[in-house]
Amino acid sequence: MISLGINYTRMHDSSACIVRDGELLFAVAEERLSRVKHDARFPRNAIQACLDFARISAKQLDDICFGWPTAGPGFRHDLRCFAAGKMPVTSLNLITTTMHFLSMWHQGSGAKLFLQQFGNVKARMRFVDHHFAHAISAYAFSGFSDAAVVVMDGRGAWEATSIWHGHDGRLDPVFTIPFPDSVGFFYSEFTEYLGFQRNSDEWKVMGLAPFGQPGVDLRAFIDLKHQPYRVHSKRLFGSGSDPFSEMAARLGPSRVTESEITDRHKNIAYAVQDACEVAMMNVVRLAIEKTRSRNLCLAGGVALNSKANGKILASVLQGDIFVQPAASDDGVALGAALVPYLDRGGPLPNKPMRHAYFGPSFDDDAIASTLHTYKLRYSPLRDPAATAAELLSGGKIIGWYQGRMEFGPRALGGRSILADPRDQEMNNRVNNAVKFREWWRPFAPSLKKESARDFLESAADSPFMILTAQVRPEKRKVIPAVTHVDGSARPQTVEEKINPLYWRLIDKFGQRTGVPVILNTSFNLRGEAIVNTPTDAVRTFFSSGMDALIIGSFLVEK
Ligand SMILES: [Fe+2]
Repeated sequence: MISLGINYTRMHDSSACIVRDGELLFAVAEERLSRVKHDARFPRNAIQACLDFARISAKQLDDICFGWPTAGPGFRHDLRCFAAGKMPVTSLNLITTTMHFLSMWHQGSGAKLFLQQFGNVKARMRFVDHHFAHAISAYAFSGFSDAAVVVMDGRGAWEATSIWHGHDGRLDPVFTIPFPDSVGFFYSEFTEYLGFQRNSDEWKVMGLAPFGQPGVDLRAFIDLKHQPYRVHSKRLFGSGSDPFSEMAARLGPSRVTESEITDRHKNIAYAVQDACEVAMMNVVRLAIEKTRSRNLCLAGGVALNSKANGKILASVLQGDIFVQPAASDDGVALGAALVPYLDRGGPLPNKPMRHAYFGPSFDDDAIASTLHTYKLRYSPLRDPAATAAELLSGGKIIGWYQGRMEFGPRALGGRSILADPRDQEMNNRVNNAVKFREWWRPFAPSLKKESARDFLESAADSPFMILTAQVRPEKRKVIPAVTHVDGSARPQTVEEKINPLYWRLIDKFGQRTGVPVILNTSFNLRGEAIVNTPTDAVRTFFSSGMDALIIGSFLVEK
Protein backbone atom coordinates (compact mmCIF):
# COMPACT_ATOMS: atom_id res chain seq x y z
CA MET A 1 0.00 0.00 0.00
CA ILE A 2 1.44 3.36 -1.03
CA SER A 3 0.16 6.53 0.54
CA LEU A 4 1.00 10.14 -0.25
CA GLY A 5 0.67 12.76 2.51
CA ILE A 6 0.28 16.43 1.65
CA ASN A 7 0.19 19.68 3.60
CA TYR A 8 -1.51 22.36 1.55
CA THR A 9 -3.77 25.13 2.72
CA ARG A 10 -2.28 28.29 1.17
CA MET A 11 -1.05 29.38 4.63
CA HIS A 12 2.54 28.19 5.08
CA ASP A 13 4.99 25.29 4.78
CA SER A 14 3.45 23.14 2.03
CA SER A 15 5.00 19.69 1.99
CA ALA A 16 4.60 16.09 0.87
CA CYS A 17 5.72 12.66 2.00
CA ILE A 18 5.36 9.09 0.77
CA VAL A 19 4.73 6.00 2.88
CA ARG A 20 4.97 2.43 1.63
CA ASP A 21 3.56 -0.42 3.73
CA GLY A 22 3.69 1.72 6.85
CA GLU A 23 7.24 2.93 6.35
CA LEU A 24 8.04 6.58 5.72
CA LEU A 25 10.26 6.65 2.63
CA PHE A 26 10.66 10.30 1.79
CA ALA A 27 9.46 13.71 2.97
CA VAL A 28 10.26 17.23 1.83
CA ALA A 29 8.88 20.74 2.22
CA GLU A 30 8.11 22.61 -0.96
CA GLU A 31 10.33 25.53 0.14
CA ARG A 32 13.48 23.42 -0.24
CA LEU A 33 12.71 22.74 -3.88
CA SER A 34 11.13 26.04 -4.91
CA ARG A 35 13.60 28.09 -2.79
CA VAL A 36 10.68 30.21 -1.51
CA LYS A 37 10.89 30.20 2.29
CA HIS A 38 7.74 28.79 3.94
CA ASP A 39 6.31 28.26 0.45
CA ALA A 40 2.52 27.97 0.79
CA ARG A 41 1.73 27.07 -2.81
CA PHE A 42 0.51 23.66 -3.92
CA PRO A 43 3.52 21.35 -3.29
CA ARG A 44 3.87 20.18 -6.88
CA ASN A 45 7.65 19.82 -6.68
CA ALA A 46 7.54 18.02 -3.33
CA ILE A 47 4.94 15.54 -4.63
CA GLN A 48 6.99 14.87 -7.77
CA ALA A 49 10.09 14.32 -5.62
CA CYS A 50 8.14 11.77 -3.52
CA LEU A 51 7.02 9.90 -6.65
CA ASP A 52 10.52 9.98 -8.11
CA PHE A 53 12.04 8.62 -4.93
CA ALA A 54 9.53 5.76 -4.78
CA ARG A 55 9.99 5.23 -8.57
CA ILE A 56 6.27 5.23 -9.17
CA SER A 57 3.75 7.33 -11.05
CA ALA A 58 0.79 9.03 -9.43
CA LYS A 59 -1.43 6.33 -10.91
CA GLN A 60 0.17 3.76 -8.61
CA LEU A 61 -0.77 5.60 -5.42
CA ASP A 62 -3.41 3.94 -3.28
CA ASP A 63 -4.21 6.95 -1.09
CA ILE A 64 -3.68 10.69 -1.33
CA CYS A 65 -4.14 12.27 2.07
CA PHE A 66 -4.31 15.98 2.84
CA GLY A 67 -3.56 17.15 6.40
CA TRP A 68 -6.60 19.42 6.40
CA PRO A 69 -10.34 18.95 6.03
CA THR A 70 -12.09 20.38 2.98
CA ALA A 71 -12.61 24.13 2.83
CA GLY A 72 -16.13 24.18 4.29
CA PRO A 73 -15.67 23.33 8.01
CA GLY A 74 -13.05 26.01 8.65
CA PHE A 75 -15.13 28.64 6.88
CA ARG A 76 -18.24 27.72 8.87
CA HIS A 77 -16.23 27.85 12.11
CA ASP A 78 -14.98 31.33 11.26
CA LEU A 79 -18.50 32.53 10.46
CA ARG A 80 -19.66 31.24 13.85
CA CYS A 81 -16.76 33.09 15.51
CA PHE A 82 -17.77 36.31 13.74
CA ALA A 83 -21.39 35.81 14.81
CA ALA A 84 -20.39 35.09 18.42
CA GLY A 85 -18.15 38.16 18.56
CA LYS A 86 -14.98 36.12 19.03
CA MET A 87 -13.40 37.63 15.94
CA PRO A 88 -13.89 41.28 14.99
CA VAL A 89 -16.26 41.73 12.07
CA THR A 90 -14.19 44.00 9.87
CA SER A 91 -14.34 44.19 6.12
CA LEU A 92 -10.70 43.05 5.95
CA ASN A 93 -11.35 39.98 8.12
CA LEU A 94 -14.48 39.05 6.20
CA ILE A 95 -12.81 39.47 2.82
CA THR A 96 -9.71 37.50 3.89
CA THR A 97 -11.76 34.62 5.30
CA THR A 98 -14.13 34.49 2.33
CA MET A 99 -11.36 34.72 -0.25
CA HIS A 100 -9.46 31.90 1.42
CA PHE A 101 -12.57 29.73 1.45
CA LEU A 102 -13.46 30.47 -2.17
CA SER A 103 -9.93 29.83 -3.33
CA MET A 104 -9.65 26.48 -1.53
CA TRP A 105 -13.16 25.50 -2.60
CA HIS A 106 -12.33 26.33 -6.20
CA GLN A 107 -9.24 24.12 -5.95
CA GLY A 108 -11.18 21.23 -4.42
CA SER A 109 -9.05 21.82 -1.29
CA GLY A 110 -6.05 20.76 -3.35
CA ALA A 111 -7.59 17.73 -5.08
CA LYS A 112 -8.30 19.56 -8.35
CA LEU A 113 -4.77 20.93 -8.43
CA PHE A 114 -3.42 17.43 -7.92
CA LEU A 115 -5.43 16.06 -10.82
CA GLN A 116 -4.44 18.99 -13.05
CA GLN A 117 -0.76 18.41 -12.32
CA PHE A 118 -0.58 14.64 -12.18
CA GLY A 119 -3.55 13.38 -14.23
CA ASN A 120 -6.34 11.08 -13.18
CA VAL A 121 -5.56 8.62 -10.40
CA LYS A 122 -7.21 5.59 -8.88
CA ALA A 123 -6.18 6.67 -5.38
CA ARG A 124 -8.76 7.67 -2.83
CA MET A 125 -8.47 11.33 -1.80
CA ARG A 126 -8.77 11.89 1.93
CA PHE A 127 -9.08 15.13 3.85
CA VAL A 128 -7.93 14.61 7.42
CA ASP A 129 -8.77 16.82 10.38
CA HIS A 130 -5.73 18.98 10.91
CA HIS A 131 -5.08 18.26 14.57
CA PHE A 132 -5.71 14.57 14.02
CA ALA A 133 -2.96 14.61 11.39
CA HIS A 134 -0.63 16.46 13.79
CA ALA A 135 -1.49 13.98 16.58
CA ILE A 136 -0.71 10.97 14.37
CA SER A 137 2.56 12.59 13.25
CA ALA A 138 3.65 12.58 16.90
CA TYR A 139 2.17 9.33 18.24
CA ALA A 140 2.89 7.06 15.27
CA PHE A 141 6.58 8.01 15.26
CA SER A 142 7.08 7.93 19.03
CA GLY A 143 7.47 4.22 19.61
CA PHE A 144 5.19 4.58 22.66
CA SER A 145 2.33 2.15 22.96
CA ASP A 146 0.51 4.40 25.43
CA ALA A 147 0.88 8.18 25.44
CA ALA A 148 -0.84 11.48 26.09
CA VAL A 149 -0.75 13.39 22.81
CA VAL A 150 -0.92 17.17 22.82
CA VAL A 151 -1.33 19.31 19.70
CA MET A 152 -0.99 23.08 19.96
CA ASP A 153 -0.70 25.38 16.96
CA GLY A 154 -1.98 28.69 15.60
CA ARG A 155 -5.07 27.04 14.27
CA GLY A 156 -6.47 24.05 12.46
CA ALA A 157 -9.76 24.37 10.60
CA TRP A 158 -11.39 24.96 13.98
CA GLU A 159 -8.99 23.62 16.62
CA ALA A 160 -6.26 25.47 18.51
CA THR A 161 -5.29 22.96 21.21
CA SER A 162 -6.22 19.31 21.37
CA ILE A 163 -5.48 16.39 23.65
CA TRP A 164 -5.55 12.80 22.46
CA HIS A 165 -4.97 9.43 24.06
CA GLY A 166 -2.73 7.20 22.00
CA HIS A 167 -2.99 3.53 22.89
CA ASP A 168 -2.65 0.24 21.05
CA GLY A 169 -2.09 1.92 17.70
CA ARG A 170 -5.14 4.16 17.95
CA LEU A 171 -5.87 7.75 18.91
CA ASP A 172 -8.92 8.78 20.92
CA PRO A 173 -9.90 12.45 21.10
CA VAL A 174 -9.98 13.66 24.70
CA PHE A 175 -10.28 17.43 24.77
CA THR A 176 -10.30 20.32 22.28
CA ILE A 177 -10.02 24.09 22.64
CA PRO A 178 -11.30 25.80 19.49
CA PHE A 179 -9.67 28.69 17.63
CA PRO A 180 -9.29 31.62 18.35
CA ASP A 181 -8.51 30.58 21.96
CA SER A 182 -5.02 29.75 20.74
CA VAL A 183 -1.56 29.89 22.32
CA GLY A 184 -0.02 29.79 18.84
CA PHE A 185 -2.13 32.75 17.77
CA PHE A 186 -1.14 34.61 20.98
CA TYR A 187 2.56 33.97 20.29
CA SER A 188 2.44 34.86 16.61
CA GLU A 189 0.50 38.10 17.26
CA PHE A 190 3.20 39.20 19.69
CA THR A 191 5.88 38.04 17.26
CA GLU A 192 4.47 40.49 14.72
CA TYR A 193 3.94 43.20 17.34
CA LEU A 194 7.65 42.89 18.17
CA GLY A 195 8.53 43.61 14.54
CA PHE A 196 9.09 40.04 13.32
CA GLN A 197 7.31 37.83 10.83
CA ARG A 198 4.51 35.63 12.14
CA ASN A 199 4.61 31.88 11.46
CA SER A 200 8.33 32.23 10.86
CA ASP A 201 10.19 34.32 13.42
CA GLU A 202 8.76 32.94 16.67
CA TRP A 203 12.30 31.60 17.25
CA LYS A 204 13.52 35.16 17.50
CA VAL A 205 11.10 35.98 20.31
CA MET A 206 12.12 32.79 22.14
CA GLY A 207 15.81 33.68 21.74
CA LEU A 208 15.26 37.27 22.85
CA ALA A 209 13.22 36.33 25.94
CA PRO A 210 16.15 35.47 28.29
CA PHE A 211 17.53 38.98 27.80
CA GLY A 212 14.37 40.45 29.37
CA GLN A 213 13.22 40.87 32.94
CA PRO A 214 9.93 39.76 34.49
CA GLY A 215 7.28 42.39 35.18
CA VAL A 216 5.28 42.93 31.98
CA ASP A 217 1.63 42.14 32.69
CA LEU A 218 -0.04 40.20 29.87
CA ARG A 219 -3.18 39.21 31.77
CA ALA A 220 -5.26 41.34 29.41
CA PHE A 221 -4.26 38.94 26.63
CA ILE A 222 -3.92 35.56 28.29
CA ASP A 223 -5.45 34.26 31.51
CA LEU A 224 -3.31 31.51 32.99
CA LYS A 225 -5.40 31.07 36.12
CA HIS A 226 -8.20 29.74 33.96
CA GLN A 227 -7.20 26.12 33.36
CA PRO A 228 -5.50 25.26 31.17
CA TYR A 229 -5.44 28.82 29.70
CA ARG A 230 -7.72 31.34 28.10
CA VAL A 231 -6.58 33.71 25.37
CA HIS A 232 -8.44 37.01 25.13
CA SER A 233 -8.40 36.80 21.40
CA LYS A 234 -10.52 39.85 20.66
CA ARG A 235 -7.87 42.07 22.20
CA LEU A 236 -5.21 40.28 20.16
CA PHE A 237 -7.12 40.97 16.95
CA GLY A 238 -7.15 44.69 17.81
CA SER A 239 -9.35 47.17 16.01
CA GLY A 240 -10.14 46.88 12.35
CA SER A 241 -7.63 49.50 11.24
CA ASP A 242 -4.87 48.66 13.74
CA PRO A 243 -4.32 45.03 14.69
CA PHE A 244 -2.03 46.11 17.53
CA SER A 245 -4.29 48.80 19.02
CA GLU A 246 -4.93 46.95 22.29
CA MET A 247 -1.29 45.94 22.69
CA ALA A 248 -0.12 49.46 21.96
CA ALA A 249 -2.56 50.91 24.49
CA ARG A 250 -1.22 48.67 27.26
CA LEU A 251 2.40 48.01 26.29
CA GLY A 252 3.45 50.88 24.03
CA PRO A 253 3.78 51.10 20.25
CA SER A 254 4.61 48.06 18.17
CA ARG A 255 8.25 47.75 17.08
CA VAL A 256 9.16 48.80 13.57
CA THR A 257 10.87 45.91 11.77
CA GLU A 258 14.68 46.09 11.82
CA SER A 259 14.62 48.98 14.34
CA GLU A 260 16.60 48.87 17.57
CA ILE A 261 15.67 46.28 20.18
CA THR A 262 15.05 48.07 23.49
CA ASP A 263 14.67 46.77 27.03
CA ARG A 264 10.90 47.15 26.63
CA HIS A 265 10.94 44.73 23.69
CA LYS A 266 13.13 42.27 25.60
CA ASN A 267 10.81 42.38 28.63
CA ILE A 268 7.73 41.80 26.47
CA ALA A 269 9.47 38.84 24.79
CA TYR A 270 10.25 37.48 28.27
CA ALA A 271 6.59 37.74 29.31
CA VAL A 272 5.29 36.18 26.07
CA GLN A 273 7.66 33.23 26.37
CA ASP A 274 6.87 32.80 30.06
CA ALA A 275 3.11 32.80 29.38
CA CYS A 276 3.56 30.26 26.58
CA GLU A 277 5.54 27.97 28.88
CA VAL A 278 2.92 28.14 31.64
CA ALA A 279 0.07 27.53 29.17
CA MET A 280 1.86 24.55 27.65
CA MET A 281 2.63 23.07 31.06
CA ASN A 282 -1.01 23.52 32.08
CA VAL A 283 -2.18 21.70 28.94
CA VAL A 284 0.33 18.90 29.43
CA ARG A 285 -0.69 18.43 33.08
CA LEU A 286 -4.31 18.21 31.96
CA ALA A 287 -3.41 15.70 29.25
CA ILE A 288 -1.55 13.49 31.71
CA GLU A 289 -4.41 13.71 34.19
CA LYS A 290 -7.04 12.84 31.59
CA THR A 291 -5.15 10.02 29.88
CA ARG A 292 -3.25 8.69 32.93
CA SER A 293 -0.31 8.17 30.60
CA ARG A 294 3.31 8.62 31.62
CA ASN A 295 4.55 9.34 28.12
CA LEU A 296 3.95 12.51 26.16
CA CYS A 297 3.86 13.22 22.42
CA LEU A 298 3.83 16.80 21.17
CA ALA A 299 3.12 18.32 17.75
CA GLY A 300 1.79 21.55 16.25
CA GLY A 301 3.78 24.73 15.69
CA VAL A 302 3.79 25.62 19.40
CA ALA A 303 5.72 22.39 20.04
CA LEU A 304 8.67 23.95 18.19
CA ASN A 305 9.15 25.99 21.37
CA SER A 306 12.17 24.02 22.54
CA LYS A 307 12.49 26.09 25.70
CA ALA A 308 8.99 25.17 26.84
CA ASN A 309 9.53 21.53 25.83
CA GLY A 310 12.66 21.38 27.96
CA LYS A 311 10.78 22.76 30.96
CA ILE A 312 7.96 20.26 30.47
CA LEU A 313 10.47 17.43 30.44
CA ALA A 314 12.28 18.75 33.50
CA SER A 315 9.32 19.68 35.68
CA VAL A 316 6.07 18.04 34.57
CA LEU A 317 6.80 14.62 33.12
CA GLN A 318 7.52 11.35 34.88
CA GLY A 319 7.91 9.35 31.68
CA ASP A 320 9.36 9.98 28.23
CA ILE A 321 8.68 12.64 25.64
CA PHE A 322 8.64 12.59 21.87
CA VAL A 323 8.27 15.84 19.98
CA GLN A 324 7.65 15.42 16.27
CA PRO A 325 10.63 17.31 14.76
CA ALA A 326 8.46 18.55 11.90
CA ALA A 327 6.04 19.90 14.50
CA SER A 328 4.79 22.72 12.32
CA ASP A 329 2.39 22.21 9.44
CA ASP A 330 4.97 20.56 7.16
CA GLY A 331 4.65 17.58 9.51
CA VAL A 332 0.90 17.01 9.02
CA ALA A 333 1.77 15.28 5.75
CA LEU A 334 3.32 12.49 7.88
CA GLY A 335 0.22 12.03 10.01
CA ALA A 336 -2.25 12.28 7.13
CA ALA A 337 -0.39 9.61 5.14
CA LEU A 338 -0.98 7.08 7.91
CA VAL A 339 -4.74 7.60 8.21
CA PRO A 340 -5.55 4.82 5.69
CA TYR A 341 -4.15 2.30 8.17
CA LEU A 342 -6.79 3.32 10.69
CA ASP A 343 -9.53 3.45 8.07
CA ARG A 344 -8.75 -0.14 7.07
CA GLY A 345 -9.21 -1.24 10.64
CA GLY A 346 -5.60 -1.87 11.53
CA PRO A 347 -3.49 -0.14 14.13
CA LEU A 348 -1.28 2.75 13.15
CA PRO A 349 2.27 1.79 12.25
CA ASN A 350 4.48 2.85 15.14
CA LYS A 351 8.17 2.97 14.39
CA PRO A 352 10.21 5.35 16.54
CA MET A 353 11.62 8.20 14.48
CA ARG A 354 15.34 8.25 15.23
CA HIS A 355 16.44 10.72 12.57
CA ALA A 356 15.04 13.28 10.14
CA TYR A 357 17.03 12.34 7.01
CA PHE A 358 14.04 11.80 4.75
CA GLY A 359 14.82 14.33 2.02
CA PRO A 360 16.68 14.29 -1.30
CA SER A 361 20.34 13.27 -1.61
CA PHE A 362 22.98 13.71 -4.31
CA ASP A 363 25.84 11.28 -4.81
CA ASP A 364 29.48 12.15 -5.44
CA ASP A 365 29.04 11.93 -9.22
CA ALA A 366 26.28 14.54 -9.14
CA ILE A 367 28.31 16.73 -6.78
CA ALA A 368 31.47 16.46 -8.93
CA SER A 369 29.44 17.35 -11.99
CA THR A 370 28.20 20.51 -10.27
CA LEU A 371 31.71 21.47 -9.18
CA HIS A 372 32.93 20.98 -12.78
CA THR A 373 30.08 23.06 -14.15
CA TYR A 374 31.12 26.00 -12.00
CA LYS A 375 34.83 25.39 -12.74
CA LEU A 376 35.64 25.21 -9.06
CA ARG A 377 38.92 23.92 -7.66
CA TYR A 378 38.29 21.08 -5.27
CA SER A 379 40.14 18.23 -3.58
CA PRO A 380 38.85 14.70 -3.12
CA LEU A 381 38.81 13.62 0.52
CA ARG A 382 39.58 10.19 1.91
CA ASP A 383 38.01 11.04 5.26
CA PRO A 384 35.63 14.04 5.20
CA ALA A 385 35.00 13.75 8.96
CA ALA A 386 38.73 13.99 9.78
CA THR A 387 39.25 16.94 7.44
CA ALA A 388 36.23 18.73 8.91
CA ALA A 389 37.50 18.19 12.46
CA GLU A 390 40.92 19.54 11.49
CA LEU A 391 39.47 22.66 9.85
CA LEU A 392 37.06 23.30 12.71
CA SER A 393 39.77 23.00 15.35
CA GLY A 394 41.73 25.59 13.36
CA GLY A 395 38.88 28.06 13.71
CA LYS A 396 37.39 27.62 10.24
CA ILE A 397 33.67 27.89 9.56
CA ILE A 398 32.61 25.12 7.21
CA GLY A 399 29.62 24.13 5.14
CA TRP A 400 28.83 20.46 5.70
CA TYR A 401 26.72 18.85 2.97
CA GLN A 402 26.25 15.09 3.33
CA GLY A 403 23.65 12.45 2.57
CA ARG A 404 19.93 13.05 2.69
CA MET A 405 18.45 16.40 3.61
CA GLU A 406 16.58 16.73 6.90
CA PHE A 407 12.78 16.99 7.04
CA GLY A 408 11.64 19.69 9.48
CA PRO A 409 13.14 23.06 10.33
CA ARG A 410 16.45 21.96 11.86
CA ALA A 411 19.71 21.01 10.16
CA LEU A 412 21.05 17.93 11.91
CA GLY A 413 24.32 17.18 10.18
CA GLY A 414 23.02 16.75 6.63
CA ARG A 415 22.84 20.39 5.50
CA SER A 416 24.70 22.22 8.28
CA ILE A 417 27.13 25.05 8.85
CA LEU A 418 29.64 23.98 11.51
CA ALA A 419 32.06 25.86 13.73
CA ASP A 420 34.13 25.58 16.92
CA PRO A 421 31.88 26.12 19.98
CA ARG A 422 34.82 26.85 22.33
CA ASP A 423 35.41 30.32 20.94
CA GLN A 424 33.15 32.99 22.46
CA GLU A 425 33.71 35.10 19.36
CA MET A 426 32.55 32.30 17.09
CA ASN A 427 28.94 33.17 17.80
CA ASN A 428 29.52 36.68 16.44
CA ARG A 429 31.69 35.43 13.59
CA VAL A 430 29.07 32.98 12.35
CA ASN A 431 26.31 35.52 12.87
CA ASN A 432 28.06 38.35 11.08
CA ALA A 433 29.97 36.52 8.39
CA VAL A 434 27.65 33.67 7.54
CA LYS A 435 24.15 33.86 8.86
CA PHE A 436 23.68 37.62 8.83
CA ARG A 437 21.12 37.16 11.53
CA GLU A 438 20.19 38.79 14.81
CA TRP A 439 22.83 39.04 17.52
CA TRP A 440 20.65 37.49 20.23
CA ARG A 441 19.79 34.22 18.51
CA PRO A 442 21.76 31.36 20.04
CA PHE A 443 23.48 28.59 18.13
CA ALA A 444 22.96 24.97 19.00
CA PRO A 445 25.48 22.23 19.84
CA SER A 446 25.77 18.74 18.37
CA LEU A 447 27.17 16.27 20.89
CA LYS A 448 27.89 12.57 20.88
CA LYS A 449 24.98 10.96 22.67
CA GLU A 450 27.31 9.22 25.09
CA SER A 451 29.04 12.45 26.16
CA ALA A 452 25.91 14.62 26.45
CA ARG A 453 25.79 14.02 30.20
CA ASP A 454 29.26 15.53 30.57
CA PHE A 455 28.00 18.86 29.25
CA LEU A 456 24.28 19.00 30.02
CA GLU A 457 22.42 18.81 33.32
CA SER A 458 19.54 16.83 31.87
CA ALA A 459 21.04 14.61 29.21
CA ALA A 460 17.79 13.42 27.69
CA ASP A 461 17.92 11.81 24.30
CA SER A 462 17.55 14.83 22.01
CA PRO A 463 18.21 13.92 18.38
CA PHE A 464 16.20 16.81 16.92
CA MET A 465 17.27 20.05 18.69
CA ILE A 466 13.73 20.45 19.94
CA LEU A 467 14.36 20.19 23.71
CA THR A 468 16.32 22.83 25.56
CA ALA A 469 18.61 21.70 28.37
CA GLN A 470 20.81 23.55 30.86
CA VAL A 471 24.55 23.44 30.21
CA ARG A 472 26.46 22.33 33.31
CA PRO A 473 27.75 25.51 35.02
CA GLU A 474 31.38 24.36 34.83
CA LYS A 475 31.02 23.74 31.07
CA ARG A 476 29.46 27.07 30.10
CA LYS A 477 32.88 28.66 29.62
CA VAL A 478 34.07 25.59 27.70
CA ILE A 479 31.39 25.89 24.98
CA PRO A 480 30.35 29.58 25.20
CA ALA A 481 29.35 29.88 21.54
CA VAL A 482 26.48 27.40 22.03
CA THR A 483 25.46 28.42 25.55
CA HIS A 484 22.66 30.96 25.69
CA VAL A 485 22.64 33.90 28.09
CA ASP A 486 20.49 31.93 30.56
CA GLY A 487 22.84 28.93 30.55
CA SER A 488 20.63 26.88 28.25
CA ALA A 489 21.38 25.10 25.00
CA ARG A 490 19.28 23.38 22.33
CA PRO A 491 21.30 20.20 21.85
CA GLN A 492 21.37 17.56 19.17
CA THR A 493 22.54 14.26 20.58
CA VAL A 494 24.16 12.23 17.80
CA GLU A 495 24.19 8.44 17.78
CA GLU A 496 26.96 6.60 15.99
CA LYS A 497 24.63 4.03 14.48
CA ILE A 498 22.20 6.69 13.19
CA ASN A 499 24.69 9.06 11.53
CA PRO A 500 28.16 7.46 11.69
CA LEU A 501 29.86 10.12 9.55
CA TYR A 502 28.64 13.07 11.62
CA TRP A 503 29.29 11.19 14.86
CA ARG A 504 32.87 10.56 13.76
CA LEU A 505 33.36 14.23 12.91
CA ILE A 506 32.36 15.18 16.46
CA ASP A 507 34.49 12.39 17.87
CA LYS A 508 37.57 13.46 15.89
CA PHE A 509 37.04 17.09 16.90
CA GLY A 510 36.89 15.84 20.52
CA GLN A 511 40.14 13.90 20.07
CA ARG A 512 41.86 17.04 18.80
CA THR A 513 40.46 19.50 21.32
CA GLY A 514 39.16 17.52 24.29
CA VAL A 515 35.68 18.93 23.59
CA PRO A 516 33.43 16.56 21.59
CA VAL A 517 30.92 19.29 20.77
CA ILE A 518 30.29 21.13 17.48
CA LEU A 519 28.39 24.34 16.79
CA ASN A 520 25.75 23.35 14.24
CA THR A 521 23.47 25.75 12.44
CA SER A 522 21.41 25.31 9.31
CA PHE A 523 23.06 25.68 5.89
CA ASN A 524 21.27 28.74 4.64
CA LEU A 525 21.52 32.48 4.63
CA ARG A 526 19.13 34.67 6.59
CA GLY A 527 15.64 34.56 5.12
CA GLU A 528 16.46 31.71 2.73
CA ALA A 529 15.45 28.05 2.80
CA ILE A 530 18.04 25.45 3.81
CA VAL A 531 20.11 24.33 0.81
CA ASN A 532 18.90 21.29 -1.07
CA THR A 533 21.01 20.70 -4.19
CA PRO A 534 24.80 20.93 -4.61
CA THR A 535 24.17 24.09 -6.62
CA ASP A 536 22.28 25.62 -3.67
CA ALA A 537 25.20 24.70 -1.42
CA VAL A 538 27.85 26.21 -3.72
CA ARG A 539 25.85 29.39 -4.23
CA THR A 540 25.30 29.84 -0.48
CA PHE A 541 28.95 29.05 0.24
CA PHE A 542 30.17 31.78 -2.08
CA SER A 543 27.55 34.27 -0.84
CA SER A 544 28.79 34.02 2.73
CA GLY A 545 31.87 34.18 4.91
CA MET A 546 32.28 30.41 5.22
CA ASP A 547 35.90 29.28 4.89
CA ALA A 548 35.44 25.81 3.43
CA LEU A 549 32.77 23.55 2.00
CA ILE A 550 32.87 19.81 2.54
CA ILE A 551 30.36 18.46 0.09
CA GLY A 552 30.17 14.69 -0.23
CA SER A 553 33.76 13.49 -0.55
CA PHE A 554 35.09 16.84 -1.78
CA LEU A 555 36.64 19.92 -0.20
CA VAL A 556 36.17 23.39 -1.69
CA GLU A 557 38.12 26.23 -0.11
CA LYS A 558 38.26 29.96 -0.67
FE1 LIG B 1 -1.00 23.11 12.45
